[in-house]
Amino acid sequence: MLRGRRVLVGVGGGIAAYKTAEVVSRLFQEGAEVRVLFTATATKFITPLTLSTLSRHRAYTDEDFWASTHQRPLHIELGEWAEIFLIAPLTANTLGKLNYGLADNLLTNTVLASPCPILLAPAMNTEMWEQLTVQRNWQQIKQNTRYHTIEPGSGLLACDRVGKGRMAEPEEILIALQSLLHTNAQQDLQGKKILISAGGTREHLDPVRFLGNPATGKMGVALAQAAYYRGAEVTFVHGPMTRELLALLPQIRRLAVVSAAQMHQEILSVFPEADWLFMVAAVADVKPVTYTAQKLPKHSLPESLPLETVPDILKELAQHKKPQQRVIGFAAQTGDIITPALGKLKSKKLDAIAANPIDKPNAGFASDTNQAVFLDCQGRKQEVEPCTKLELAHHLLDFVLQLQNTTI
Ligand code: CTP
Repeated sequence: MLRGRRVLVGVGGGIAAYKTAEVVSRLFQEGAEVRVLFTATATKFITPLTLSTLSRHRAYTDEDFWASTHQRPLHIELGEWAEIFLIAPLTANTLGKLNYGLADNLLTNTVLASPCPILLAPAMNTEMWEQLTVQRNWQQIKQNTRYHTIEPGSGLLACDRVGKGRMAEPEEILIALQSLLHTNAQQDLQGKKILISAGGTREHLDPVRFLGNPATGKMGVALAQAAYYRGAEVTFVHGPMTRELLALLPQIRRLAVVSAAQMHQEILSVFPEADWLFMVAAVADVKPVTYTAQKLPKHSLPESLPLETVPDILKELAQHKKPQQRVIGFAAQTGDIITPALGKLKSKKLDAIAANPIDKPNAGFASDTNQAVFLDCQGRKQEVEPCTKLELAHHLLDFVLQLQNTTI
């Protein structure tokens, strides 16, 4: 998603600049063209040598900005060149200047001289972040459609305080950049309420034993991120998942469940308000008939396990949806993926389904990459070659948007 894309990185004066080095390194590894510019204070935290080495291009400072040359002004050149401009870390000082349209250094002049979308990743001490003036600037700048933002996280700060102010992690910044570049920062899902289920459910026999599946929730997380950066209001209902994965969804409303019955209940409560439902979760089909609240000793385990079916959430909701609601399923298949997926599309009366193989290397459960065939109720079919789960998520959103346009 980043190959050949032109990403300008502006570094502000904060200790979080060390994380920006990781962002620049990852951008280069993913095939982006990267240019880096520094504020004067940023050079006290991390050197231009570090980022020029990682970006394989010279990094610019205010000295370059003020140097007398016969070239076109640097801020104009860089501003015209960039497809997207990341400012990380964003300091309270630069935030204030940007909010008031001030320009007194290379970074702020380049902002004014460029038309591209800007992604802001602030970092500062909690006290500074919570100042009325800083919060006012932050809220105001978010009203400006040119600016896209990643809220700082909470945790132990370099000033030894525990609180809000940590710059977003490089992984989150990369997801945001890729998502914004995919739509050229168009908020094409603005105003849409999107409900996403993810991960696997667990059907317990006793507190330690359950019937489950290998779903990790990665595909659902990618879809939630993609929808969020396209402006949707996302609700994420998920089975047990790692903290690391959930940390990639800081702005998203999350409802945690364990069993299919709990997932059913949460989805039913949110669905009436949703415009689109994506059932990415690998939901159980059956559960043990009995549940014992105390751990069963080995000698008390049944020799065979009586099972009962659990409700098909997707099928039920597709039958009761309002005309403008869209219900999209996933079908994780082995062998021929299309025939069973088409069967599920029709029998469950879905608007669309994403069929994906789980018997191919680098696709399906736990993989960072995936491949799929999208099918819809109007007979459209789109094949997506192996790619990251985030890219596949964006293609699926594009596919469903087209469905929307043709049916309403
Ligand atoms: N699904 C659901 N509720 C269930 C089981 C599945 O909502 N109890 C949803 C899944 O989230 C997925 C779609 O139905 O979006 C297809 O799930 P899948 O397990 O592939 O299909 P099944 O209908 O369960 O059929 P089979 O297991 O026979 O392949």
